[in-house]
Amino acid sequence: MRRLIPLTIGAAAAGAGAVALRQHRDRALAHRLSAATLETLLDAIEANDAVTGRHVRRVAAFSLILGEAADLDVRTLRSIERIALFHDIGKLHEALTDIFHDTTKLTPEERRAVMTHPQRGADVLAPLSGFYPDLAKGVAAHHERWDGTGYPRGLKGTRIPLTARVVAIADTFDAITHQRRYSAGRSFSTAMGAIADGRGTQFDPELVDLFLSPPVAEEIEQAMRKANGPQTRRMNRRVHEVKRAPDITFRWRTRTGASHSRDRAN
Ligand SMILES: [Fe+2]
Repeated sequence: MRRLIPLTIGAAAAGAGAVALRQHRDRALAHRLSAATLETLLDAIEANDAVTGRHVRRVAAFSLILGEAADLDVRTLRSIERIALFHDIGKLHEALTDIFHDTTKLTPEERRAVMTHPQRGADVLAPLSGFYPDLAKGVAAHHERWDGTGYPRGLKGTRIPLTARVVAIADTFDAITHQRRYSAGRSFSTAMGAIADGRGTQFDPELVDLFLSPPVAEEIEQAMRKANGPQTRRMNRRVHEVKRAPDITFRWRTRTGASHSRDRAN
């Protein structure tokens, strides 16, 4: 009888250990599953529209540079990354595809249709809100403006999620520096000038100051050149040939050479 007590304690400890291990495995599995789901969605965007696929990856890389410079915590950085990668998913809607693929100038009616893409994107992503509560909200807000004249809701200042404010700057920078069907890519300094012009009107002034500060600007310029350079294209080909690893990570980071130094394990 005297030995029964330690045995019971030992069995209870072993049971608790087994439960903890099972919970750890379940969490790891859920993490891999959610990463695989997002990666699949990203691949689907790229398969449907390669230009948008490359754009969102570059925007994610620039957004992470700005987010890290702002010293945001890892959870917020992950959220920024997801919002950047899926911010334009609403453009894939049937009603908008022809408009985005047209090379002519937008008519007022087409412009109104284009302005629906943030909310369309949020609607597409709504089923993921149980796992990523900030994703749809951030995507919906990526065209809001600091002065309240943006769309779709006309949110003003800090009522715009911080994540969306970061992505908005990176998105505009990339839109200016990369060639599109209807406009040639412009220089790094032109883009930086446009970001500066939007300080306090289009963009969060503090984030603009950070984006334009020499160390951040230098990192953004390097990332931009890397994304444009032949080295990246060679690297992309090689990465495409690599068999998908069983432990799926966000491979887009490897393709773009994006940083996310505090979160390399995921
Ligand atoms: Fe957009």
